Amino acid sequence: MKGIVFTELLEMVEDKFGFELADQVITETDLPSKGIYTAVGTYEFSELVAILVKLNELTGVSIGDLQRVYGNHLFTRFSQLYSHFFADAKDAFSFLSKIEDYIHVEVRKLYPDAELPSFDIKQLNPSTLEMNYSSERGMADFAHGLIEGCLNHFGEEMKVDRIDLNEQKTKSQFTLTRVLSDVK
Ligand code: HEM
Repeated sequence: MKGIVFTELLEMVEDKFGFELADQVITETDLPSKGIYTAVGTYEFSELVAILVKLNELTGVSIGDLQRVYGNHLFTRFSQLYSHFFADAKDAFSFLSKIEDYIHVEVRKLYPDAELPSFDIKQLNPSTLEMNYSSERGMADFAHGLIEGCLNHFGEEMKVDRIDLNEQKTKSQFTLTRVLSDVK
């Protein structure tokens, strides 16, 4: 995993739960990196899992909810850090439709060792987008949070239905439906 995933997570933890808890997470988790991350470095995915397990222990928030809140938060950060990816995205559907063929392709150019999921995305009709997530890391909750962050960013209200196709959450289907008042 790229360091940005760790640095932004630890900043969010500090903002939401305070410096002491963020510090406790690092000191009480057995991390090969010792919790020292740079945004462009690369670290084991298992370190992210270990941090989430410790956070769950210390806060009582489930690992799924932690990933979801974090995904939502990270989308806002991405919109600031990678504003050029937003240049011609007019709404959430047009932005989300480009993750697989544009956004993550550009991310891969910036960070050749990035571990990215794959998305099979279909616009079923003007008000429905289907996104099929697949990744051996099973971060469907994180994807869910990123989708919610994207909807917040564009100020669009939608129903997000999610079906996890296995227990490991390595394959999940999201169906986004515009609520009536938001149909354009
Ligand atoms: C400006 C927008 C975006 C940028 C710059 C971006 C970039 C990245 C980066 C840097 C990673 C980490 C790769 C690694 O650690 O090796 C990542 C992972 C991921 N991204 Fe994106 N991303 C964006 C939008 C999205 C959106 C909208 C979705 C949502 C649905 C998404 C879904 C994911 C997921 C689920 C992962 C975790 C890895 C996995 O599941 O295997 N990304 N992305």
